[in-house]
Amino acid sequence: MIDSKTKIIGVIGKPIGHSMSPAMHNAAFSRLGLNYVYLGFEVTDLQRAIDGMRALGISGFNVTIPHKIDILKYLDKIDTTAKRISAVNTVVNDNGILTGYNTDCAGAVDALASKVKLKGRKIAVIGAGGAARAIAFGVAEKGAHILIINRTLAKGEKLVSDVNGFFPDSSKCGTIKELEDVDIIVNTTPIGMNPNIHATPVGKEFLRKNHIIMDIVYNPIETQFLRDAKSLGCMTISGIEMFVGQGAKSFELFTENKAPKEVMRNAVLNLL
Ligand code: ATR
Repeated sequence: MIDSKTKIIGVIGKPIGHSMSPAMHNAAFSRLGLNYVYLGFEVTDLQRAIDGMRALGISGFNVTIPHKIDILKYLDKIDTTAKRISAVNTVVNDNGILTGYNTDCAGAVDALASKVKLKGRKIAVIGAGGAARAIAFGVAEKGAHILIINRTLAKGEKLVSDVNGFFPDSSKCGTIKELEDVDIIVNTTPIGMNPNIHATPVGKEFLRKNHIIMDIVYNPIETQFLRDAKSLGCMTISGIEMFVGQGAKSFELFTENKAPKEVMRNAVLNLL
């Protein structure tokens, strides 16, 4: 029941109307019988929104496009991983102290690590935006070797130099032609996302049966990239896994309860 003690969690972004986070978190609160509610807030003026969150004592919130980078300057503390990545997707309000975290990183690492050991593996990351940064730092910390393949070379090179600054010689830039030598390929670009469902970041001719393929696009659940990979017999990891993974980590930061991941996954699957 919602009452005067109900803790409020939210997601701020723009647009927010299609976010699946409210359904995913509310299903989890309900399963564990926690007196929390999770809402979507469409935010244009970030600074005033943060002031409002503080003034109202909102317990925590997720942050999505386009605010994941700008939010850093309004927070009181930033966790080490989020600082390295330079992006925050989760904020916890602890008695007025706002601390930023990046659960995209652990969410992606968990999704990969549940299928494969990461130490010593060669991982190609397609793209060099916020999601690519979270994944690259996460897998570098696990001892993987990273090949960044990005449309804009300068942005790829910046990510490589940032990751190598913390994990020396872990990363380099490359091209699609170098995929033959890698173990895992992760798409972090929006290529293949609804409505462009036939587009793919990597042509099927560059895929091999022994590649492990992960997409962070989750609408559609099975992208062209994953379909091509499956047809060759590759192991695949859908974008749902990273989305639910980051949500579960955020849930644990918000509530200090273990996240009911299956409940969260089913809530998302019901929406797709
Ligand atoms: P996010 O925070 O979700 O990762 P982003 O920061 O906008 O999103 O990053 C998207 C990434 O996908 C970028 O690396 C972008 O390439 P550029 O650095 O060249 O802009 C890449 N990307 C987006 N659309 C693309 C397309 N049609 N072809 C190739 N790469 C694309």
